[in-house]
Amino acid sequence: MMSTLATTNRRVLLAARPVGLPTAANWTFSDAPLADLAEGELRVRVSAISLDPAMRGWMNEGKSYIAPVGIGEVMRAGGVGVVEASRHPGYAVGDAVSGSTGVQTHWTVAPERDRGHGLGKIDLRLGTPTQWLNVLGMPGMTAYFGLMDVGLPNLTKPAGETLVVSGAAGAVGQTVGQLAKLKGLRVVGIAGGAAKCDWVVKELGFDACIDYKAGPSAVRDGLKEHCPQGVDIYFDNVGGDILDTVLARINRRARIVICGAISQYNNTTPVQGPKNYLSLLVNRARMEGMVVFDYADRYHLAVAEMAGYLKDGRMKSREDVATGGVDAFPATLNKLFSGENFGKLVLSLEG
Ligand SMILES: NC(=O)c1ccc[n+]([C@@H]2O[C@H](COP(=O)([O-])OP(=O)(O)OC[C@H]3O[C@@H](n4cnc5c(N)ncnc54)[C@H](OP(=O)(O)O)[C@@H]3O)[C@@H](O)[C@H]2O)c1
Repeated sequence: MMSTLATTNRRVLLAARPVGLPTAANWTFSDAPLADLAEGELRVRVSAISLDPAMRGWMNEGKSYIAPVGIGEVMRAGGVGVVEASRHPGYAVGDAVSGSTGVQTHWTVAPERDRGHGLGKIDLRLGTPTQWLNVLGMPGMTAYFGLMDVGLPNLTKPAGETLVVSGAAGAVGQTVGQLAKLKGLRVVGIAGGAAKCDWVVKELGFDACIDYKAGPSAVRDGLKEHCPQGVDIYFDNVGGDILDTVLARINRRARIVICGAISQYNNTTPVQGPKNYLSLLVNRARMEGMVVFDYADRYHLAVAEMAGYLKDGRMKSREDVATGGVDAFPATLNKLFSGENFGKLVLSLEG
């Protein structure tokens, strides 16, 4: 019988560490033969990969919360796919899975051998494969635990609290804002452009959204207008000037969740720290970093809650699905830094 299984794995390798925005020179493409599986291994045909701002950090040399991707290694990425061959008793051909697939068409993994594989089955009754890379996946978990465990909304008096979230129309931001609304808070987003702002207000139910690209004082003026009672929680996805501007409007005992700082990731000069940090002192406020992987043992609880919201329509999940296979990865990744993605950016490897 003729086999329909692929015999080669197309991969994107890190060729050189970038300075500033990644370019074509940072990547190489390679086709590697697929070897027979060893005992304990399984092979996943990757159907979609997650494009994450964190990838830019993984390309850098140096100490972080996770080791850098080595030169010549397959670029690290979260992904979803289907098991197409298995010599592992826990996985059967046809199982839908997610994990740290890498930017490649086929992922061969031995869960008992490989560290940091993140392999797990996904239940497609709870969400589509791309929703498993969004609300039910890493960005959704970041939103959930960043808000609930670090932002610490006052759930006994939620209507008295105002949350501001930047990157509001992106993967993490869309879920932070929707979850905060579901918990009863006033929610104000910050995003680039009228279309994104309209969407988070009209479709997601945020109370307001500030277009930070509308002018040099847009954020300051917008916060004044839309946060008349000040800011109790700021969920920061972007850092830089926007962080400083929000710090100027925080309330006593405010919580600033340092989730990310995408405005700084391609800097060729030192990262811009907050100039207004003394606002933390004056307001007895707290600024705390978070890394989603610390909450892995509780993901199942967040998934169960958010899958319920997806099912009953109280939460929306917008993915921006790019096509072109792994060869389109370099150009697609850079959309995160130009703001061209609208919703969670995913690269489909199908078709
Ligand atoms: N700590 C963790 O464990 C963790 C986990 C996941 C993600 N994160 C962080 O969360 C943040 C959001 O990630 P995501 O996956 O949800 O990405 P995303 O928001 O879906 O995409 C990135 C967005 O950032 C905005 N952006 C780009 N450059 C900007 C700039 N200079 N100033 C302001 N906004 C800019 C763009 O939106 P606009 O069009 O609105 O500008 C772009 O669409 C990132 O900082 C990421 O590193 C952290």
